Amino acid sequence: MTKKEKPPSDKLEKIVSLAKRRGFIYPGSEIYGGLGGFYDFGPLGTEMKFNIKNAWWRDVVQMRDDVVGLNAAIIMNPKAWEASGHVSGFSDPLVECKKCHHRFRADNITGDECPDCGGHLTESRNFNLMLKTSIGPVEDSASTAYLRPETAGGIFLNFKNVLDTMRVKLPFGIAQIGKAFRNEINPKDFIFRTREFEQMELEYFVKPGEDEEKFDEWVKNRTKWYESIGLKNIRTREQSKDERAHYAKATTDIEYEFPFGSQEIEGVANRGNFDLGAHAKASGKDLTYFEEETKERYLPYVIEPSAGVERIMLALLCDAYSEEGDRVVLKLNPRIAPHKAAIFPLLANKPKLVELAKDIYRDLKKDFVVAWDERGNIGKRYFSQDEIGTPYCITVDFDSLEKNDVTVRERDSMKQERVNIKELKTYLSDKLT
Ligand code: GAP
Repeated sequence: MTKKEKPPSDKLEKIVSLAKRRGFIYPGSEIYGGLGGFYDFGPLGTEMKFNIKNAWWRDVVQMRDDVVGLNAAIIMNPKAWEASGHVSGFSDPLVECKKCHHRFRADNITGDECPDCGGHLTESRNFNLMLKTSIGPVEDSASTAYLRPETAGGIFLNFKNVLDTMRVKLPFGIAQIGKAFRNEINPKDFIFRTREFEQMELEYFVKPGEDEEKFDEWVKNRTKWYESIGLKNIRTREQSKDERAHYAKATTDIEYEFPFGSQEIEGVANRGNFDLGAHAKASGKDLTYFEEETKERYLPYVIEPSAGVERIMLALLCDAYSEEGDRVVLKLNPRIAPHKAAIFPLLANKPKLVELAKDIYRDLKKDFVVAWDERGNIGKRYFSQDEIGTPYCITVDFDSLEKNDVTVRERDSMKQERVNIKELKTYLSDKLT
């Protein structure tokens, strides 16, 4: 077993099984035997990922006056990755077992024996994590390009474009959500460490000297954000000098207490002016900022909160998973839950009930992501919705036909109340926000 790890957990296995069974997460390329480190997201997983990304975009970009968005190409001129230090320095130490030839990250191994067979390990060597591809019809060294290992690169390359085209003034941020790729030596712990993942990154540019204050502000701000989407069991941890990436002056990790140990879901780094400086030098372009008030020209420093969508998703699933007797409930925050409500006719073979329930369903669909279910008995439908985290279930029964009201049942308390059909939208809006 490797350093810091706990044994495979029963809880994680249950989450993996639920995620597959209920259409959240499937192993990638499953019908061909899978592909290590790649996963596909099913209908509910896709909704949940959208909700995480939308919550981040709303709070980090749209609700702020000092942050703008960007969507840069995944593949960039390879010179950018040389300048950023990724070609020479973005690597993990790799050791290989001389007997079974399994490969491991040297910094995860305790002792000098193979954790799988006890064989001798080779000396550690640096293994570059960038995934390569080639551009155009001829495959040679001149056509080599990289799938971006972090979304940040595209932001630095567009710093001047944003400065020239938008009316931004320091301090300001550029945010981006998108895919990143790393040829991880040991993808593991379900979607915690994969080779293809999504990042939500903000590069917040500040005047040198104001960086430490803004760094602290962002650590606090980001911690609060996790609380706002209902994530408990998080803590912050300052990285030691040895742990920090080659570009960072300081980094604080936001960690979640996973079943396999406390692990990073987001890193907030003070990247100084490393990136703008390196790209200015390599491209020959002036990437300085001119401050009108003081007539000063300088390279801004940057504070970078960088989070992984899949890691947050796994943390939210672990945090939300609970068993109450024979009921499994995902106690997801309504903002994150794939479906906000499910609508049922009490009996599927009573056309009047189905008709009214369908009317309500179609009407709610205009404002909320809602599900329809008419299979089995009501108890089973409740349990089925609990397992995927649907906060409210709405049942149309015979009284509904007379009194124009429905039963609304809340997931966590299982409490039920009658709500007038006309007031249903307002009722749900109040409860869901
Ligand atoms: N631009 C800074 C940066 O990329 P990082 O700490 O290497 O920093 C940031 O990555 C976040 O991206 C991590 O906190 C994690 O959530 C996510 N991440 C990184 N590598 C990952 C992987 N192999 N699988 C899933 N998520 C990953």
